[in-house]
Amino acid sequence: MRMYDLITKKKHGEELSKEEISEMIRGYVNEEITDYQMSAMLMAIYFQGMSEKETANLTIAMAHSGDIVDLSAIKGIKVDKHSTGGVGDKTTLVIGPIVAACGGKVAKMSGRGLGHTGGTIDKLESIPGFQVALDQDKFIDIVNKVGISVVGQSGNLAPADKKLYALRDVTATVDSIPLISSSIMSKKLAAGSDCILLDVKTGSGAFMRTVEDSIALARRMVAIGEHAGKKTMAIITDMDIPLGSAVGNSLEVIEAIETLKGNGPKDLAEVCEILATNMLYLTGKGSVEKCKQLVHEAVESGAALKKLAEMVEAQGGDSTVILDTNKFAKAPYQYEVKVTQNGYISHMDTEQCGIASMVLGAGRETKDSVIDYSAGIRMIKKTGDYVKQGDVLAILYASKKELFQKAEEILRKAYTLSDEPVTRRPLVLAKVSSQGVEQY
Ligand code: URA
Repeated sequence: MRMYDLITKKKHGEELSKEEISEMIRGYVNEEITDYQMSAMLMAIYFQGMSEKETANLTIAMAHSGDIVDLSAIKGIKVDKHSTGGVGDKTTLVIGPIVAACGGKVAKMSGRGLGHTGGTIDKLESIPGFQVALDQDKFIDIVNKVGISVVGQSGNLAPADKKLYALRDVTATVDSIPLISSSIMSKKLAAGSDCILLDVKTGSGAFMRTVEDSIALARRMVAIGEHAGKKTMAIITDMDIPLGSAVGNSLEVIEAIETLKGNGPKDLAEVCEILATNMLYLTGKGSVEKCKQLVHEAVESGAALKKLAEMVEAQGGDSTVILDTNKFAKAPYQYEVKVTQNGYISHMDTEQCGIASMVLGAGRETKDSVIDYSAGIRMIKKTGDYVKQGDVLAILYASKKELFQKAEEILRKAYTLSDEPVTRRPLVLAKVSSQGVEQY
């Protein structure tokens, strides 16, 4: 097999065989194939696409380029969840404990945030003492005892993805459905769960800006999961507006805790309800209606909140902060952004809201940036709300006062006002499973 011939084949839109794909990934990881040849291949894939079969073969080859986590020592059905990323997305912190309280087993590897999107691992690290790097035996032991453990991704999980993602990032080949879907699903397959629920975000704060593109990505990922023998489903949820009110690490953990107590923002509670319900459904806990009822019971009884506290304790964290959120470190400064003009908020550029939060210190501009866990934004008014001059639009939190001016400037530009009333679009836009697409 010559890489030159494979590039030529893909350039002409021909299908690559399973053997050709696995040999190409093996050669790339072993540095027998150069970055310049792989760049040409990525661009050929970008323009010619890949069939469902090719994408599944690419994903499986990428998943097998490193360790496949063996979760067989965990008793029960293991269910994983992945969000394609957004602003204010703290759903894992809510639905993981709910699913564990209902008997599902959640052995989850999560990522850190970069740019405008937050990462679950950074949020968890805002809990004093919480350890995200556990050895495999301890991780499995916690899942067996508590029902849930969330850790950072191990170094050798899908190394082909790590190399390919870095190359895509500098060759303008990130936004390709076969490449995104194989990247996400290779890590999910390597992480070893039996079932996978995908939360594909859509809108101005998401990777996929339109519902059509989000459905296309979801279909491809569901097909890959099913091809690999995992029960897989995707829910398309709105990211044209930040989820909940809090954006920023400890602010989001506190909001997740409030949601587990039944006092969270309505939008966050609704998205968490549908995600948790479908995770349970995938594990075979009964009909969708039955699973929804289990979710309600887990929140109302306090069992889900207790699970979060148990996981925090098991991972070395201070679980007393879960029961008394006043114990979280507070940002030394806060600043109210006031409304200057009356009207209805007709749109929020959600990516810019995430960038404003990053500027305050809550996110990373580069991989090496240091996070300020108490920094962030509380969104007081959101799309659909009527606002009057002098109302508080948002509250900014930071450790340095001088960060407020730039963050305020970015945040103000993110809002569009209108004289006409505006209705928000539904939070849940579609469900994609092996049975097809249900659009709401
Ligand atoms: N997230 C990933 O892990 N990979 C992509 O290609 C895009 C988003």
